[in-house]
Amino acid sequence: MLEEIPELSNPSVLMKDPQRVQEILESMMKAGSNTVQVISDFDMTLTRFAYNGKRCPTCHNILDNSKLITNECREKLKELLNTYYPIEIDSARSIEEKLPLMVQWWTKAHELLVQQEIKKDLLAMVVRESDAMLREGYQLFFDHLHEHSIPLLIFSAGIGDILEEVVRQAGVFHSNVKVFSNYMDFDETGVLKAFKGELIHIYNKREGALLNTGHFQELRTRPNVLLLGDSLGDLTMADGVQDMENILKIGFLNDKVEERKQSYLDSYDIVLVKDETLEVPNAIMLYLT
Ligand code: TMP
Ligand code: MG
Repeated sequence: MLEEIPELSNPSVLMKDPQRVQEILESMMKAGSNTVQVISDFDMTLTRFAYNGKRCPTCHNILDNSKLITNECREKLKELLNTYYPIEIDSARSIEEKLPLMVQWWTKAHELLVQQEIKKDLLAMVVRESDAMLREGYQLFFDHLHEHSIPLLIFSAGIGDILEEVVRQAGVFHSNVKVFSNYMDFDETGVLKAFKGELIHIYNKREGALLNTGHFQELRTRPNVLLLGDSLGDLTMADGVQDMENILKIGFLNDKVEERKQSYLDSYDIVLVKDETLEVPNAIMLYLT
């Protein structure tokens, strides 16, 4: 079977247990694509980590780098990034240890953004002028899922308004796409005044999933899940899926490869090392449909 997906032999692909990957894929194929749903992280999973040697922005970075915020605020946000991003990817610390620090990062960043009186009607422009890039192969990924009526849940600790705009401007915000993320709350004049609902950060996606039982209830006839992520926190995105039968977890390992390789191999079925494309997820989708 694995011969039917030659992309799984790409040099970027690592698997701890290829036999198990084969079994999961066979079982999902037999069940049929009408039993499949896809759950994906956004930043650094659907978007590129780097392009021509330069880092690509996350949803937050798109705002950080924009002219909607003052230089002073930009400096503070950069300081936060320089403090907390190394913690996010530090393999020497446990999730328990990182969790309160990630809450601090998100809380401080959102407080700073809210002070900037960001206008809703300028977000589209800011995204257009940014260096945001979806991974190579995104068109096939989004279009194929849409053509086969396979639901795609984008589950992101980024900013929903920005994320939607990136996907919309790429022309792939199809009707099968649903987003769980942090959405901005604007006042009646269209100025950012807060963020809506419960904060989603990289280590509480399980709680976020469990709050959205209605969505997973609607998709209860799709117990086979393809999960895409780039952080170990993304592994809990499917915790709300009801009566799960199979899950295939694909993880992008973008940064600090040597230190983190073993933990990624232990928790993701397929690890894609410094792979800026959606070639492997696409090949799997084509196999399943
Ligand atoms: P994701 O769940 O879509 O991957 O989004 C989370 C990413 O956002 C995570 O990798 C860290 C990043 N981030 C920033 O780049 N700047 C910020 O200010 C915050 C709070 C998060
Ligand atoms: Mg991510």
